[in-house]
Amino acid sequence: MKSIHNTVKAQFSQHAEYYAQSTAHAKGDTLDVILEFAEPKGTEQVLDIATGTGFTAFAFAPNVANVIATDLTAEMLVKAAELAQEQAIPNVAFSLAAAEALPFASASYDLVTCRLAPHHFQDVPAFLSEVHRVLRQNGLFCMVDSVSPESEELIRWQNRVETLRDDSHVYGYPPSQWDAMITAAGFTIERFAHARNAQMSFLWWVRPEKNPPAVVREIRDAFAQLSPDEAKAHYTVRPVGEDFYFSWPMYAVKARRC
Ligand SMILES: C[S@@+](CC[C@H](N)C(=O)[O-])C[C@H]1O[C@@H](n2cnc3c(N)ncnc32)[C@H](O)[C@@H]1O
Repeated sequence: MKSIHNTVKAQFSQHAEYYAQSTAHAKGDTLDVILEFAEPKGTEQVLDIATGTGFTAFAFAPNVANVIATDLTAEMLVKAAELAQEQAIPNVAFSLAAAEALPFASASYDLVTCRLAPHHFQDVPAFLSEVHRVLRQNGLFCMVDSVSPESEELIRWQNRVETLRDDSHVYGYPPSQWDAMITAAGFTIERFAHARNAQMSFLWWVRPEKNPPAVVREIRDAFAQLSPDEAKAHYTVRPVGEDFYFSWPMYAVKARRC
C-alpha cells in the first residue's frame, strides 16, 4: 500500500493548480448526483474523503453543519484550504488522511462523501470498512467514481489504458463489484445512478507533455482496437479531425450504514 500511496502523492502533488482550475472536476453531473442523493438537512457532520482541491466539500458546505475534507496529498489540501479562504467558506476543515486508515473516532459522522477518487485506492474493502466505522448508525455514504463496463474483456482493457496513462490509477471496478463490496461492508444500497463525465479530447486527456510518444501511441492503438459498437456504447467515442472525444462511464451510489 505504501508504494501506491507514494505514487499517488507524486502524481497529485504536481497537479494541485491543474485540478483547482479544472472545470471537469469543479462542476458536472457527478457532483449534482451525490448532492441529490445525500438530501442534506443542514445539521450533518460530513467527512469528504480524497477531497482533492475541495470541490465536493465546498458544494456540501452551505448545506450541512461542518465538513472535514481529507486527502493523502498535502499539496492538494494546501490548495483546497487556500480556495476555502478565498471563497470565505467558514465550515470546512482539512486533515491529511489515507482513505484506508482514517484518523477519526468511530461513529463520528452523519455523511461520508467520496467523488472521483476510489479508482486510486489500493484497498477498496479497507476504505469501505473505514467509512462504515466512522459513520453513525443509519449514516449515509454517497460516492461516485469512474467504473468499467460489465465485461471481463473491457474491465481489462479500461484498466490497462488508464494505468498506461497514469500510474496512480489502481482499478476501476464495474458497478456489480461495487454493489457487492458496499453490501459486504455492511451497507444497504438505497439508490444508484449511471452517469458520465463530460466528453474529453483524447489529445488533451492523454497528457502528451508527460507521457512519451510511444505510450501515447500505445493508448491510441488500444482505442483503435475497440469494436465500433464498444467504442460508441461504452466510451461515446467521436472522431474530430486528428483527435477524438470520449467519456468514461461513472457510477453513483447512496448507501446506508446498517
Ligand atoms: C481526482 S482527485 C479528487 C477529486 C475530488 N474528490 C473532487 O470531487 O473534485 C483524486 C484525489 O484522491 C486522492 N487520493 C488518492 N488515493 C488516496 C487515498 N488512498 N487516500 C486518500 N486520498 C487519496 C489524491 O491525492 C487526489 O487528491
